[in-house]
Order: sequence, then structure tokens, then C-alpha cells
Amino acid sequence: MSGSLKGSDIVSIRDFSREQIEQILNVADKMVPVAKGEEKSTELEGRVLGSLFYEPSTRTRLSFEAAMTRLGGRTLGFDEPKGSSVAKGETLADTIRMVDAYSDVIVLRHPQEGAARLAGHFAEKPVINAGDGAGQHPTQTLLDLFTIRNEKGGIDGNHVVIVGDLKYGRTVHSLSEALSMFGAKLTFVAPPTLQMPKEHIKHIESKGLKPKISNSLDEVIGDADVLYVTRIQKERFPDPAEYRKVAGAFTINRTMLREAKKDMIVMHPLPRMNEINPDVDGTDHARYFVQAFNGVPVRMALLSMVLGGME
Ligand code: NCD
Repeated sequence: MSGSLKGSDIVSIRDFSREQIEQILNVADKMVPVAKGEEKSTELEGRVLGSLFYEPSTRTRLSFEAAMTRLGGRTLGFDEPKGSSVAKGETLADTIRMVDAYSDVIVLRHPQEGAARLAGHFAEKPVINAGDGAGQHPTQTLLDLFTIRNEKGGIDGNHVVIVGDLKYGRTVHSLSEALSMFGAKLTFVAPPTLQMPKEHIKHIESKGLKPKISNSLDEVIGDADVLYVTRIQKERFPDPAEYRKVAGAFTINRTMLREAKKDMIVMHPLPRMNEINPDVDGTDHARYFVQAFNGVPVRMALLSMVLGGME
């Protein structure tokens, strides 16, 4: 992908250049007053978003819908495939062909890795990947980058410690690859069985970075500028016994944060289970709720650019 995003599929963070990411974040900055409802916009009036969620979602689905609504557009689709012809056995290709005819842009979340790329082949309208199995989650990454940029005054040079399920967590696959484009320092903290897959490490190393691998949060927390916490992805474990071995492996609480830099921020794509104790919510470190709000301006920027509004 190069230059304008108009008409483009958004499938993987690898599809973007650093300049394109910066351009999206700049447009997102301008969207904030509209995202908050302080200003009105009719930019996407008459445009329709087809929203297909084959997996559960709260923030991604609702913030896409909020983004489209705030820009004057409308959304149709389903939030679980049970109520659609998917339950009768319709293929993804056929469902996509239909929604392609009913809408101007398609947002797809699906349990299979590669589903968004496949959907892009069957749709003429742009397809945006809202998470494909344990693959990628590029729009989450854009809002994560937006949050880091706003909260830390920039992305470059920050030490980002990513902790939790790095094997199955799609948000951290996209995020770590994006951070490598910005030259952030990366540390991956996970139980050995849930460490970052080699494929992603190789990609990061190809950008000239050498991520540190650790299984001890205590060792690295004091040096972090950003602590990005993730949920163990229970639904992706082939064997429930394997899940039980690692469930609750890392829990961040207020006491542990005494070791952290004063201005270190804690992020999480949410939903959280027990990885972040609620006693962290009231500290100056917590940024996960601001991060969740940032999904709205960032997705407004993307929809606007993909549909050919702002450049
Ligand atoms: C994440 C996802 O669906 O990958 N949630 C989100 O989109 N904010 C993270 C998760 O489910 O753990």
C-alpha cells in the first residue's frame, strides 16, 4: 500500500509505511472533537458500513459503529453469526459478496487467520481486518500507537514492555511489528510456551531491532516507559489443560508499580481478566480506558481515508 488509502483493504500492519501510519494518527487528532460529540460532522452521510463479527467484541465493534455514526454514516451487519445465513452453512466468500453489495466498506472479525485477506479478494469495497484469529489486529495497533504518541509525546525511543499471551495475542503481533518501524525498544515477557512467535521476531529483527525476551516482569518493570498487558487468549488453546497451566501467570497490581518510573503508562487492549488488578485503575499509570476511547477517533480517521474523505 502506498500513498492514499482510498479504496484500500486494511489487513495487516505490514501493509503500511511509517509515513502512512503518521498520516492516519494526524487525521485522528483532528477527529477528537467529533468523536467526543463536541462538534458535528456529515462527512460520511449516506455511506454504509457492513460490520461482520464472527467472534465476540465490545470495543472494536462499538467504536467502529460510533466512528461511522459520528461521521454521519450508518452501520448494518451482525454481532454474532448465529442470526445470519452463516448458521445455515454459507461460506465466508458468499457472505462477503452480499455485504459488498449492501455497503461501502466492510469491517470483519473472524476466528481464522487470513480471513480478512481472503474477504478482500471477494469484495470490491475496502475490507478492514478487525482481528483474524491469532493473526493481526491492525486497527487496534493504530489506536495503541495513537495512545502512546499522545501520552508519551512520541513513539520513537520508548521502551515498551509487552506482557502476557504473545503467542496467540493478535494485538501484540501487530503492535510489536509497528513499534519496530518507529524504533521503540521492545521487551517481551511471557511464560516460555506463550512467547512471541519466531515469525514476528524475525520481522522485527529485519527492521534492525533486537527485542529482549524475558519471563520475569520484576526484572524489567523498572525500565519500562510503556507496560502493555494482554489477556491469556483462552479460546485459542487447543488443550484446556495447557491454558490452566498459564492462567494467571502475570498480574499487575499497585504494589508492583512502586518499582516503575513515575511516568510509565499501563495499557491493555481489554477485556481484562485478572491481569490488571482494579487497584491500578486509580493510579497515574493507568491508560487503558483512554486507550479504549481512542478507538473512536482513530477508526473515524481510517473510515474517512478509506472512503476517500480526508487525505
Ligand atoms: C482484543 C482482541 O479481540 O484481540 N480485544 C480488542 O479488540 N480490544 C484483545 C483480547 O481479546 O484479548
